[in-house]
Amino acid sequence: MNFTVTALDVTDSTQSEVKRRATAGAPEGTVVTARHQRAGRGRRGHDWWDAPGQSLLVSVLLRPGGSPRVAPQLSLVGGLAVADALADAASVAARIRWPNDLLVDGRKVCGILAEAASDGMGRLDHVILGIGINLNQTGFPPTLRERATSLGLVTGRAYAAEPVLAAVLAHLGRRYAEWRAGGFAALRTVWLERSTVPGQLVRLPHGGEGPAVDVGDDGVLLARANDGRLLRIVSREATEEVTAHAAGH
Ligand code: BTN
Repeated sequence: MNFTVTALDVTDSTQSEVKRRATAGAPEGTVVTARHQRAGRGRRGHDWWDAPGQSLLVSVLLRPGGSPRVAPQLSLVGGLAVADALADAASVAARIRWPNDLLVDGRKVCGILAEAASDGMGRLDHVILGIGINLNQTGFPPTLRERATSLGLVTGRAYAAEPVLAAVLAHLGRRYAEWRAGGFAALRTVWLERSTVPGQLVRLPHGGEGPAVDVGDDGVLLARANDGRLLRIVSREATEEVTAHAAGH
């Protein structure tokens, strides 16, 4: 895939900027970065805080076509690509917490937001993959302090955004091509090796938590409920779909 990168100083959110460009017909591979976002967004309606110039803030436009049902898989593909990139650019072995947080020593070093839009005729129009990597922060606001870290804190080195961006885009291009050729099934084994599944505790849609057991060829997480049932969890977003899975899996 060819990437066309626009580097902004300040914007509301690179997600919003790429969304505007997608709506105006921008092609797959459109990439926007920023040094600072005034209204950065996280998953489930959360804000995404950044200290100006300390993070890699990037959004990438993908147009895979096909069914909207595959959109959640792209956030897993994104998580894997960033794990590859952190190993490559910083020799940091991050773990993927389903669906796509990247953790080092249990603390979050990167968050990913996948926002999908369909074309009104039942097909996927685009997915915008938003990636926020903590590069050089030496401290975080009190609400994040216990849960966040940065590449700098982990390795004691300073990171320029450009080489990390280059690694992210190179690995994303490669993993996306593998996904297009073979679906999530082609990435499932390596994704599992890099992830906190099995064992990760996940919030269950009808309350409580349960351990993740496995991820399917379709990227759906299997988690064990308190009553022993296995649940299929498609995504943690509001439109969560959960169905009882065949007993005995
Ligand atoms: C999360 O963990 O909740 C997802 C965070 C995603 C943050 C990135 S930063 C670049 C892009 N622009 C945004 O407004 N959000 C994503």
